[in-house]
Amino acid sequence: MKILVLGGGGREHTICYVLSKSAKLEKLFCTPGNGGISEIADIVEGISVTDFDSVARFCKENKIDLVFPGPEEPLVKGLRDFLEKEGIKVFGPDSVGALIEGSKSFAKEIMDKAGVPTAKFEVFDEPSKAKAYIEKKGAPIVVKADGLCAGKGVFVCETKEEAIKAIEKIMEEKIFGESGNKVVIEEKLVGEEASYIVITDGYNFKALPTSQDHKRLLDNDEGPNTGGMGAYSPTPLIDLELRQKIEKKIIAPVLKTLEKEGHPYLGFLYAGLMIVNKEPYVLEFNCRLGDPEAQVILPRVENDFLEIIETALEGNLDKVELKERKEAAVCVVMASKGYPGKYEKGKKIEGLEKVSQIQDVIVFHAGTKKVNNEFYTNGGRVLGVTALDKDIPSAIEKAYKAVSLIHFEGAHYRKDIGKRVFKYLGSF
Ligand code: AMP
Ligand code: GLY
Repeated sequence: MKILVLGGGGREHTICYVLSKSAKLEKLFCTPGNGGISEIADIVEGISVTDFDSVARFCKENKIDLVFPGPEEPLVKGLRDFLEKEGIKVFGPDSVGALIEGSKSFAKEIMDKAGVPTAKFEVFDEPSKAKAYIEKKGAPIVVKADGLCAGKGVFVCETKEEAIKAIEKIMEEKIFGESGNKVVIEEKLVGEEASYIVITDGYNFKALPTSQDHKRLLDNDEGPNTGGMGAYSPTPLIDLELRQKIEKKIIAPVLKTLEKEGHPYLGFLYAGLMIVNKEPYVLEFNCRLGDPEAQVILPRVENDFLEIIETALEGNLDKVELKERKEAAVCVVMASKGYPGKYEKGKKIEGLEKVSQIQDVIVFHAGTKKVNNEFYTNGGRVLGVTALDKDIPSAIEKAYKAVSLIHFEGAHYRKDIGKRVFKYLGSF
C-alpha cells in the first residue's frame, strides 16, 4: 500500500512510525511532516493539508492508495467527501461524522439522540439569551464556542462575570470568528479526565488502549492549558467494568446513531471523558487520534497497524482481535520556552543519538526540522519522549532518564507525567 499521511506533529510521527513497521507498506509519504518523520517517510513539500485539489493531484500522480489524516481540520472541511469523489480512499469520517468534533452543538445533539451521559446543556445563537441563561443558572458554568478553535474555545467559569465575559469574547468580539456563531453552555462536571479512543468501520469498533493526557503546562496541573504535555497508558482510572460501561453507554449508541443518520463513521472516535464516581460522562468528541495520546497508545498495540486499518476500510473490524502489549507507556513532551505562548525556533537539539541506544524508548518528533543531519527546534511542542516498561513507575523512570539526555536551549517539560496513577492506585 502507498500511503500519504497528512500532518506534522508528534501524533503524525507516531502514525508514520507504526505504519512503517508494517510489511504491507509499500511507500510512505507525509506532508508537511517534520525532522523525525523525514527519516521514515518521503516529505512532500508545498501542499497544505486543506488544499484538497493539490492533495488529490499528488495522490493521482503518485498512485496513492490511502490518505491518512492526523488532525481534524481537513476532515471537518470535507477531505473524505472530496477525495472519495476522485476515487481516493481516506481513513477518517466524512464531513458530517467529523462534525462530532467540528460542532459542539452537533455533538450534543447526537449524544441527546443516543442517550449518552454528558453535562446538561443549552445551545444559543444570540448573546443576550446566552447571558440571560447564565444569570439564571449561576456559576460554576462552562461556556464553549461551537466550532473548531484549536483547543482554545472552552471556558470553565467559576463566576457569572467570567461566563458573561466568555460570551462577549466568543459571540460579540468574535475572537474565534465564525466558530463563535453559536455557544454551548453546560454544567461543570467535577471528576477525573481520561481519553477513550476506538477505531471503527462504522458498524464495529475496537477500543485502543486507555490513556490519560496532561493538559496543563506546569506540574500539579497548574498553568495554562496546552495541546498536551504528556500522556501515559494504560490508566488505572478505567478498569474493565468501566470500559464496558463506556462502550455500552457511549461508543456503541453514538456509532449506531450516526449510522442511522446515514453517516456510518469510519476512523478514530475519541471520547474525552470525565469520570465522576466511576460513571463516565462525555466532555467532547474528537474525530482523530489524540496528541500526545497517540504516542503512548499506538506503540502499545501489538497487531500490524496497517492490517487493522485495512480491515476497517473493508468493514471487517469484527474479525480482528486487537492485542494490547502488557508493557505500560509514558510520553514526556519537551516544549520550547514560552509555549503555549510565543517561542523561538531554530535551537539545536542534542543527545538524540544517546537516547536511541536505550531499548524501548522512542523519540517522536513534533516541532523539529532536520538540516545537514542535525535537528533543530521548529515549533512549540518539540519532542515526545515515549518509554515502554513493565509498569507505569518503571516507564516513568525510563522516560525521564531519556529526557535528561536530550538538550536544547529553553527546553521545558513537566516532571510529573504519569504520577497521577499513584493517586488512583491509592483510591481505586
Ligand atoms: P473540551 O475541548 O470540550 O474537552 O474541553 C476542554 C477542557 O475543558 C476539558 O479537557 C476539561 O478540562 C474542561 N471541560 C470541558 N467541559 C467541561 C465540563 N462540563 N465540566 C468541567 N470541565 C470541562
Ligand atoms: N491531547 C488532546 C487532544 O489531542 O485533543
